[in-house]
Formats: sequence, structure tokens, C-alpha cells
Amino acid sequence: MLETGKPAKHTLIVGGSGMLSEVALHCAREGQIVTVIARGIPALQALADAAVDCRGRILPLALDYRDGQALVAGIRNAIAEHGPILNAVCWIHSTAPDAPLQVAASIGKWNQGQSCRYFDVLGSAAASPAARGDKRRQLIAQITNILYRSIVLGFVREKGFSRWLTHREIAGGLIGALKDDRTEMIIGQVEPWRLRP
Ligand SMILES: NC(=O)c1ccc[n+]([C@@H]2O[C@H](COP(=O)([O-])OP(=O)(O)OC[C@H]3O[C@@H](n4cnc5c(N)ncnc54)[C@H](OP(=O)(O)O)[C@@H]3O)[C@@H](O)[C@H]2O)c1
Repeated sequence: MLETGKPAKHTLIVGGSGMLSEVALHCAREGQIVTVIARGIPALQALADAAVDCRGRILPLALDYRDGQALVAGIRNAIAEHGPILNAVCWIHSTAPDAPLQVAASIGKWNQGQSCRYFDVLGSAAASPAARGDKRRQLIAQITNILYRSIVLGFVREKGFSRWLTHREIAGGLIGALKDDRTEMIIGQVEPWRLRP
């Protein structure tokens, strides 16, 4: 609950204690309740501590997203305690191929009829000419109450060289995506593909 008495917006960030930390802090500064999933408790706690002076709060949810049962139960409990998740920003490694769908399905099931924008943060490989279609997008987009958004992390060309994005550029791009609500976005560039670092 905010000081105004209005319920705070609830945002979920999966894989949020690393390069997405600044996205979590931005949401907390805006007064949101931000549930952050990662395994390492020290980094999660440091992030929660960094938000103590914000209008909102960062709530650590320490679990391994490869453990589907823990993931589903964690999301269900987070919604029960803090209300429907309105935005989910998900940076999930390919070591957990089922997790994106599990996150989306859990939100869809327990979100008390509220829709949630699901921001799927994808590595630049998603833009490779060899990438195999977008079955995941289709599956997630079919879930009731889920509005699918794809965010591809590209690269930057600078002074004739290519480099990967900095954390600041990644977080800045995602904060823009939350605000502008584009269904598809590339942070940096992915073309020409042969110029990637
Ligand atoms: N196109 C680009 O420019 C581009 C694209 C991708 C990555 N990168 C760069 O590559 C670097 C490394 O990427 P990274 O993925 O290590 O980024 P990261 O965001 O720094 O770390 C991954 C996040 O996911 C969490 N995580 C990882 N495995 C997990 C699991 N099984 N269960 C729950 N949470 C888990 C991590 O916390 P725990 O480990 O504590 O669980 C952490 O919060 C980044 O720093 C970024 O700069 C660049």
C-alpha cells in the first residue's frame, strides 16, 4: 500500500539482481512493489537495501528458476501477498527452457483477472538469421491475461568497432520499453548481423 492509501503497482523482475538491478530500482522509485527473483541472497538483499529510501519497495524472492515448483509457488505467493503483477520483466537463461512459460502461466492463472505485460528479454542470438522461429512467443501470447512484449539485446557500433551493451544501456532501454509499451523492441542494433562483436 502507498502512503496515499492506493494499492501499489506490483512488478516482477525475473533474473533481476544483475544487469536489471537499475530497472528494479527505477520501479521502486516510482512507488511500485517490485518482486525480484534470483538465487543469490546477498545480491538480492543489497538491492532491497538500495531501495530503502524509495517510495516503493524491492522484495527479494530467492529461488532457482530451473525448479518449476518453487518458481510457480513463489509467484503464486507473491501475487497473494502483494496483488496482481502488472508488469513482468524476464531475463531467463536457456538453462531453464520451461521457466518463461511457467512464469507467464502462473501470472495468468493467479492474477485475479488482471492483465500483465510480459517483457521477454532476449539475447542477441534471438535476432540471428539462424534463430528458430518464435514458438515461445506464440505460446506465451496465448495465455489469458498475458500481453507479450519482446525486447532483444543487440550491440553498439562505435568508432568503427562493435561492442555489447552496457548494463546502463540495457536498463535504460528496458525502462523506456516499460514506458513506451512497444510490442517489439531492439536495444542497440542487430543488423548487419555479421558486425556483432
Ligand atoms: N546483447 C548484449 O549486449 C548482452 C546480452 C546479454 C548479456 N549481456 C551481458 O552479459 C553479462 C552476463 O549476463 P548475465 O545473464 O550473467 O546477466 P546478469 O543480469 O548480470 O545475471 C543474471 C541474473 O539472473 C539471475 N539468475 C541466473 N540464473 C538463475 C537461476 N537459475 N535462477 C534464478 N535466477 C537466476 C542472476 O542471479 P543469481 O546468479 O544470484 O541467481 C542474476 O540476477 C551481463 O552483465 C550483460 O552485460 C549483454
